[in-house]
Amino acid sequence: MNGYFITFEGGEGSGKSSILKSAEKKLADLGFDVLATREPGGIEIAEKIRDIILNPAHTAMDARTEALLLAAARRQHLTEKVLPALAEGKVVLCDRFVDSSLAYQGFARGLGIEEVFTVNRFAIQDLMPDMTLFFDIEPKKGLARIAENKDRERNRLDLENIRFHEQVYEAYQYLMSKFPDRIQVINADQSFEQVESDAVKYIGSYLNNK
Ligand code: TYD
Repeated sequence: MNGYFITFEGGEGSGKSSILKSAEKKLADLGFDVLATREPGGIEIAEKIRDIILNPAHTAMDARTEALLLAAARRQHLTEKVLPALAEGKVVLCDRFVDSSLAYQGFARGLGIEEVFTVNRFAIQDLMPDMTLFFDIEPKKGLARIAENKDRERNRLDLENIRFHEQVYEAYQYLMSKFPDRIQVINADQSFEQVESDAVKYIGSYLNNK
């Protein structure tokens, strides 16, 4: 039996990572066999690549190097963790996947969405998510949420200016129009409980209709 690959996408401060953790628990309580993971990272080799990519000291990193490292981390995570879990029939919830590269590196970094997709096709061999949730919040509001959370570490991409994050947001709007059947929008500018309940509702009804 094949599992289901569900990805969570959004800008900084959209709350998607916390929602993913609680959705994992809620879906497990509903009887689904769930695995939660994240990108870049999720397994040892990819977590090491993550440290290189996100280290705020690495200001010299070239945009193409960044895109290639992300694709390399993605490849290793996919073959070592995601594909085996899907083969076991699990529901895999992944915090970020290829759409993040298209939005951040393809559009905000200016490398070109199609160019970055080409590099990523080599890494993922056409394995696209079955469903993607986009956690929608205006970049300004998302960044304000991060600023309030003093405990949160600032990574190299968090430190980009507001214009960069607005471009990320714009790119996600484009991706939603390009993949309307795959990407579901969730209003992330609501209480945690409401966003969580919307996310679990969408995933639950998707899985129950399969
Ligand atoms: P993380 O702390 O996990 O942030 P978030 O909670 O926003 O997901 O850091 C991941 C960062 O890496 C985030 O700023 C987005 C960026 N990123 C890319 O630029 N491209 C990618 O392909 C991926 C997976 C992440």
